[in-house]
Order: sequence, then C-alpha cells, then structure tokens
Amino acid sequence: MDINARIAKIVESRTAELVALRRKLHEHPELAFEEHETAKAVTAFLGKLGIKFRSGVGKTGVVAVVEGAKPGKTVGIRADMDALPIHEQTGLPFASKLPGKMHACGHDVHTVIALGVAAALTDLRSELAGRVKLIFQPAEETLSGAQAMIADGVLDDPKMDVVLGYHNWPAVEAGKVGYNAEVVMASADAFDITLKGREGHGAHPHMSIDALAAAAHFVSQLQTIVSREVKPISPAVVTIGELHAGTARNIIAGTAVLKGIVRTMEAGLSEKIEEAMRRMLEGIKTGMRVDYTLDWKRVAPALRNDRAMLARLLDSARATLGKDNVIELGEASMGSEDFAWFAEKVPAAHLRIGSKIDGLDTAIHRANYDCNDLAIPVGVRVVTRAAMELSGS
Ligand code: NI
Repeated sequence: MDINARIAKIVESRTAELVALRRKLHEHPELAFEEHETAKAVTAFLGKLGIKFRSGVGKTGVVAVVEGAKPGKTVGIRADMDALPIHEQTGLPFASKLPGKMHACGHDVHTVIALGVAAALTDLRSELAGRVKLIFQPAEETLSGAQAMIADGVLDDPKMDVVLGYHNWPAVEAGKVGYNAEVVMASADAFDITLKGREGHGAHPHMSIDALAAAAHFVSQLQTIVSREVKPISPAVVTIGELHAGTARNIIAGTAVLKGIVRTMEAGLSEKIEEAMRRMLEGIKTGMRVDYTLDWKRVAPALRNDRAMLARLLDSARATLGKDNVIELGEASMGSEDFAWFAEKVPAAHLRIGSKIDGLDTAIHRANYDCNDLAIPVGVRVVTRAAMELSGS
C-alpha cells in the first residue's frame, strides 16, 4: 500500500473519534489562557498514544514530540486551542454550553487535527524520520499565546527545522486546501496616545489648551500617512478605533485618549509609520500646545511563507489530495495571526483547510459559524503527509 492510502486508512479509522472530540471541545469553549480543560483533553489523548508531552508551556499550552525511528529533521506543527467571547447562535446539538463563549474560529477543529496527526504518526513511527513537534497553543485570538510559549522555550529542545501552521477556511470548499504564495496575513501594531492640554471653562478658550481640538486635527492628519507617505502598492491600514475626550458641553477638554492599530505587509513599514506618527505628534505639540505620550506595541509581525518550505508543502498536499484540490487564494488578509512569531524564527508555511458548509452563509468570528466535519480528516491527511515529507521520511 502506498503512503497515501496508508495514511487515509489510519485517518478513516480515527475520524469518528476525532469528530466526537471536536464536538465535545465545541460544547466547552475556553478563552485565551483559560484552556485548562482543553489542555487536559489534549494530554489525555496524547497519553493514550504513549506520546511524551509537556503541559503548562506559555501558561496553558502543550508541547508533544513524536519521535521517529530513523534520523531526520524536526518538523513543528502548530494548532491553536482558544475560543472567542461570542454568544453562539447556531442551534447545533453540540452548540456551546457556556453563554458568551464560542469556538467561532474553529480552533477546536485545529486542536483535533493535530491530535489526529499525532495518532497517524504514532502508527507510522517505524517509517518516520526525525521527529514531529506538536504545539498546542493558547490565546491566539488575543495574539499573545505564541509569544508566551516562545518565552517558555517552545523553540528549543528540540529546535525545529521548519514549522507548519493551518487554519480552517469557510470560503474554501471542504476537501480542498488553499494557500497564499507569499504574505498570508498582515502585521499588527497597537498604539495608545494621550494628548494633554489644560481643562477650562468653555466661555474662556484662551485660558485653556483644548486637547479635543488637537485630537480632531491629529485623527485627520494621521490618515495622510497611508495616502501620502506609504508606497501605494504596499498595503497599510492605520485605524483609530477609540477616541475619548471631554466631560460636558461647556468644558474644554484637558485630555484626549486615542487607541488604534496599524497593519502592514511589508517588513520595516510599521516602524516607518511609527516614526511618522511621532513626527506628527511633535507637530501637534508645537502647533496646538498639547503634550503627548505614545505607547507602541508590536502585536504580531506579518505572516510570510518561506518559499522553499511552501513549495515542498504544496507538492505533498497535491500528492495527497490531487492538484485540483490545492488552490492559490486570490488575496492575503489584513487580519493578523500570531503564528507569525514562530514564522519569524523558523522557516514556516501556512495552509487554509477548506471548511465550507454548502448553504451556510458564514465566516469565522460570527455567531452562526460552523465548520464542515470533512475538514478534520482532510486536515489530518494533508498535515501528516507533509510532516513525513518535511522530516525526510
Ligand atoms: Ni482563528
């Protein structure tokens, strides 16, 4: 039997169990860094397979290593585990039992796919070269779990030669996988600005310094960074999503607080935008007499595929599913994904696993979201075969 057929047979024998486990996880969604029960379900499954694991990595993360029988490379597989603060409205029999919490991004599916890969690789261990390191990551939705795991040493012992990430994708038909040729997702940098003036009576503006008027100027001026300072063919978004100033109609606001996010896809561009923002704040300080503070936090870098690794991954996906079932996606997303922190340190590639349900108009992060069950066996087959090929089996 060729390797494809063997993987398919193993996966077939595990599919019902994996789908049932996904439904169990779906009923009990856990938010960022609260994935205690999810981690327990993961370690119970790994324990039954006899796979060594470490839990509590990056608070609630789990790391497991499947050792091959032959020498080879170390391949990382990353699955995220957390849910979202959304109240589920699917009416499904396995809908969330916890009000206000929902697996609306399918990280329950990602978790069981990685467990399915662990099971398949255990059966194929005698042919596995090197080792496969499974990373069950907490807190992707808050873009903080990857960094927490990295701070806890997830990149060491053993060091990975390559790392593979994946996400279910309701826009892609179930049975297919999609990919972006280069950039997959944008960087995200969060900023907090406080403008400080002097509060005063609305009737005597000359005795106060109006932080609200300064903020209004600044919000408009900020948009000229994208329209006049960033190369037009390089995508960038600068958004201020919060502006708080003032307490009453007849009081001149002494303070204004602004919060926003910058998203880019080109290396070094968010640094340039930060510099421009500081220059504009200096201008507002001189022109409108307000002091300012700017806190800038790099939340996630842009997620970029390693070309050589992506090419090998796509070859193996085509060999698994047939070349018509591996499709290039039209455009990258301006959203962010903290798998990018792994991709910054280790050559990486990211796949979208088709999860469309015919007749269901949905997307990730919606209250009516659901994932096609077929994404589970397809994901396990593609990722298992890719892991074997990338490790040199
Ligand atoms: Ni997600």
